[in-house]
Amino acid sequence: MKLSFTVNGQLQTVDVEPDTPLLWVIRDHLNLTGTKFGCGIAQCGACTVHLNGTPVRSCMMPASGIQNQNITTIEGVTESKLSAESQAITNAWEELAVVQCGYCQSGQIMSATALLKQNPKPTDKDIDNYMSGNICRCNTYVRIKKAIKLASDNLAIASVDSPIFYDASKVASSNHTATEAEGETHHGA
Ligand code: FES
Ligand code: FES
Repeated sequence: MKLSFTVNGQLQTVDVEPDTPLLWVIRDHLNLTGTKFGCGIAQCGACTVHLNGTPVRSCMMPASGIQNQNITTIEGVTESKLSAESQAITNAWEELAVVQCGYCQSGQIMSATALLKQNPKPTDKDIDNYMSGNICRCNTYVRIKKAIKLASDNLAIASVDSPIFYDASKVASSNHTATEAEGETHHGA
């Protein structure tokens, strides 16, 4: 089946079986390997990408569903910083040194970016609920939550400062540090 769709703003065409998971289209056919395989059954979130702006588990998404759709992968978020939310999230991730082994982090960032787009000022509970499908074996949940809140705060500052343009340098001095102790629990519970 010939499929045409957009990935990170670029038109792509592949010829695959209709039931090929989107994850393998992204990784094997487009060589975008930032999106990871974890469970393969939509339970861990490692394979999360955006389909028309909505997070989906690419391991369970058949290629037949992406015809003429817009896909965003972690490469689009981190290399192009496609939106104010993705820029704020990736800056906060770096500032708080969220990543440990990194395997789950593409999916975490894709979900966190979508969360801030839907809900620019999420509560702890909002974050726990939204991020609950993204599993981290390294237990970085406390830092993830802090980074989402930092990104949210920085977006709010930026929107007051300039409702049109987001300038990361204006919020780089917020001086947050990763100080959580060992023994983090899932989503800071
Ligand atoms: S690999 Fe897709 S949800 Fe785990
Ligand atoms: S950082 Fe290692 S699995 Fe999340």
